[in-house]
Amino acid sequence: MIFRQLFDSASGTYTYLIAGRAGGEALLIDPVLEKLDRYLKLLDELELKLVKAVDTHLHADHFSALAALQQRTHCVNVMGSQTAADVVSLRVDEGDIIDVDGQRLEAIYTPGHTDDSYSFLMGDRVFSGDTLLIRGTGRTDFQNGDPYAQYDSLFNKLLRLPAETLVFPAHDYKGDTVSTIGEERAFNPRLQVDSADEYAELMNKLNLPRPAMMDVAVPANLRGAG
Ligand SMILES: [Fe+2]
Repeated sequence: MIFRQLFDSASGTYTYLIAGRAGGEALLIDPVLEKLDRYLKLLDELELKLVKAVDTHLHADHFSALAALQQRTHCVNVMGSQTAADVVSLRVDEGDIIDVDGQRLEAIYTPGHTDDSYSFLMGDRVFSGDTLLIRGTGRTDFQNGDPYAQYDSLFNKLLRLPAETLVFPAHDYKGDTVSTIGEERAFNPRLQVDSADEYAELMNKLNLPRPAMMDVAVPANLRGAG
């Protein structure tokens, strides 16, 4: 397997490149528009053909590269069935499998950060989007966010994965790159709650500022421009 964790420092976004073998087909998760040339160069260097590009949810903090990648590589764009984004050609639901050259990603519907948030399980690792971050969780105060839905996604889905499952989030702002389900269960301050009500109270008290790019990024990501 070819696996790369790529970083956009402007938005703190991780993008993941997955392929079965050099010379084969590839998939990107959460690509950032400003990094388009870097992805195309890396795909070229590794002699990979991009066949699918996935957004874990509609992003509010950066321009997605899905539309641009589709234009440049004719890849299939993938998001959850709940999304309002126009650029999607394949919509997945809970339990659907995305297959690229023998690498299988299972879609897990994990709403809460947004109502179109998905995580993707691939063997020993899960791509947790903005549902589960390293020592944090995605905010739930806009884009149809819902702390009760997120509690359910976390405690009844992601935290039920084997403790050794590697956690690769969509963002990190502190320099952490990977964690495990067991580590997050023990040390993530957001997960030290006893009930959905307690979790919702914690999330509703965060009072976070609006993302700087939200007013331009959300409309652009909906219509596939940027
Ligand atoms: Fe997000």
